Amino acid sequence: MPHMLITGANRGIGLEHTRVLLSRGWHVSAACRNPDQASELKKLDPGDGRLAVLAYDAGQADAAETLKAKVKGPIDILFANAGMMGPKEQSFGSSDFDAMTRTIQVNALAPLKLAEAFADQVAKSQMKVIALQSSRMGSIADNDSGGRYAYRASKAALNAIGKSLSVDLKSKGIVTLIFHPGWVRTDMGGPNGNLTVNECVEGQLDLIARANPAMNGRFFHVSGEDLDW
Ligand SMILES: NC(=O)c1ccc[n+]([C@@H]2O[C@H](COP(=O)([O-])OP(=O)(O)OC[C@H]3O[C@@H](n4cnc5c(N)ncnc54)[C@H](OP(=O)(O)O)[C@@H]3O)[C@@H](O)[C@H]2O)c1
Repeated sequence: MPHMLITGANRGIGLEHTRVLLSRGWHVSAACRNPDQASELKKLDPGDGRLAVLAYDAGQADAAETLKAKVKGPIDILFANAGMMGPKEQSFGSSDFDAMTRTIQVNALAPLKLAEAFADQVAKSQMKVIALQSSRMGSIADNDSGGRYAYRASKAALNAIGKSLSVDLKSKGIVTLIFHPGWVRTDMGGPNGNLTVNECVEGQLDLIARANPAMNGRFFHVSGEDLDW
């Protein structure tokens, strides 16, 4: 049975990935900050042992290692999806040192710690994919509106980390994909996004199903278009 480990599984895009893969017969290790409050996630439980709901706080340095103790066996898709927008105020002149640091920890450093903890289990799977939920807001080439210092810097850092992972894990046969999910109607994306969570997830899973060495280390829009860094 194929297996996905995904973070931020209690709502938004991560919840929909979990729902879709469970409906396809997968085993999903669904990591979230507060399992006790993850009622939407728990409702998806088919009751046959294929869903494991696991505690994971991306802001904790040892979170990936703690999770590793609970996730056994090969992992076909490791999806570092959890992310935060960061402080409310992110315009020039209002940078908040601690809040920016925390945003970079959650959005960029936590995915690296996950890859370090789970690369060997991904390498033992059939699909061997690490997917990083980045954002076009992390593209330096695409930035023509400024601001959003914490979020942009954190996703640019994630992109740099993803590129290095693609080089360092290539010899293990792992394909690292860096995604912009599109503008998706979630708590983060807001009500005006142009994609539903299902459209986003079906698109991402189609791309992952086609993962091959030629896609390793590339930054993809959910449409499959390559994005500039
Ligand atoms: N929606 C969009 O248009 C869009 C566009 C570009 C990129 N993205 C990226 O897509 C990913 C998913 O976003 P979404 O749209 O689904 O947003 P969302 O509905 O706000 O969900 C964010 C998820 O990340 C989790 N999370 C945040 N901080 C965490 C932490 N410290 N530890 C563990 N989990 C944490 C949240 O858990 P809690 O419930 O515990 O907070 C939640 O499950 C993010 O990385 C985001 O940057 C989204």
